Amino acid sequence: MAAQEAVSSDGLSRTSTWSSSAGDTHDDFSDLTIRPALRQDVLDLGRLHEEDYVEVHRDMHRRMFQGALPRHSASMDDWKEALGPIDFEDVLTDLVRLGDKSEVRVLICVDEACEESVVVGYILFELRQKGRGKARQRYCEVVNVVVAKGHRGRGAGRLLFEAMLSDLSRTAPAFSADVRLFVAQENEVPMNWYTRLGFKTGGMQSEKIAGVGVPFVRMIRRLA
Ligand SMILES: CC(C)(COP(=O)(O)OP(=O)(O)OC[C@H]1O[C@@H](n2cnc3c(N)ncnc32)[C@H](O)[C@@H]1OP(=O)(O)O)[C@@H](O)C(=O)NCCC(=O)NCCS
Repeated sequence: MAAQEAVSSDGLSRTSTWSSSAGDTHDDFSDLTIRPALRQDVLDLGRLHEEDYVEVHRDMHRRMFQGALPRHSASMDDWKEALGPIDFEDVLTDLVRLGDKSEVRVLICVDEACEESVVVGYILFELRQKGRGKARQRYCEVVNVVVAKGHRGRGAGRLLFEAMLSDLSRTAPAFSADVRLFVAQENEVPMNWYTRLGFKTGGMQSEKIAGVGVPFVRMIRRLA
C-alpha cells in the first residue's frame, strides 16, 4: 500500500491518502482509495453506521431475542445506544479543526470505479490513555470498522486497518503498539478476521440490551 501526501478537497488541511499498489495480495483492491473523512462525508458515514453496523448487529442477534417478552424486543434505538451512538457531525468538525492533534479519527474507503466515487467503508478510532506515572497505558481503541455489505471481502477492511496503523505510526507512535476493540461474540466473520490481523482475546463483557445480556469479546493487538 502506498502512502502519499495530498491537499484535502476542502483545502483546509494537508492529509495523507493511501491507495492500492501492484504488490498487494487482493486482486480486487485496484479501485479502492483510503483518505481521512471530511465534513462532506457525514451522510455517507451515518448511512454506513446505521445500515451496515447497527442493523447488522440487530439482525445477527435476532435469535437471542426470539421468544423474549415484548419489552425485551430490541429496537434500532436500543442497539444504537448499546453500540455507542456517534455524532459524526461533531466528530468531523473536531477532526477538520484539530487535524493530526485530534484524538478521534476517521478514515474512509472510496471506490473510484463507481461513476461517482462511492464511500464503501470507514474506520473510526480513538487515542486513549489511562492510569498514571509508570502504570500509564496509551492505546488505540477501534470504535467501529465498517464496510458496506456489497463491498465486503474485497480487501477494503484490510486497507482501512493498515491505513489506521500507518496513521498511528506517523502521527501518534506511542499509541500504535496497543490496539483494542470490542466485538460481539455472535459476530464471527470480523472476530476471525481480527485474529488473522494479530488480535488476541483479552476478556468478555456483557451489555444489557432491552434487558437481555449480549456478550462482547475484548480483543487486543500488542506489538512486543
Ligand atoms: C469486519 C469488516 C469490516 C471486514 O471488512 P472487509 O472489507 O470484508 O475485509 P477484507 O475484505 O479486508 O477481509 C475480509 C476477510 O474475510 C474473508 N471473507 C470470507 N468470506 C467473506 C464474506 N462473505 N464477506 C466478507 N469477507 C469474507 C475474506 O476473504 C478476507 O479474508 P483475509 O483476512 O484472509 O484476507 C466487515 O465484515 C464488516 O463491515 N462487518 C460488519 C460491521 C462489523 O461488524 N464490524 C466489526 C465491528 S467490531
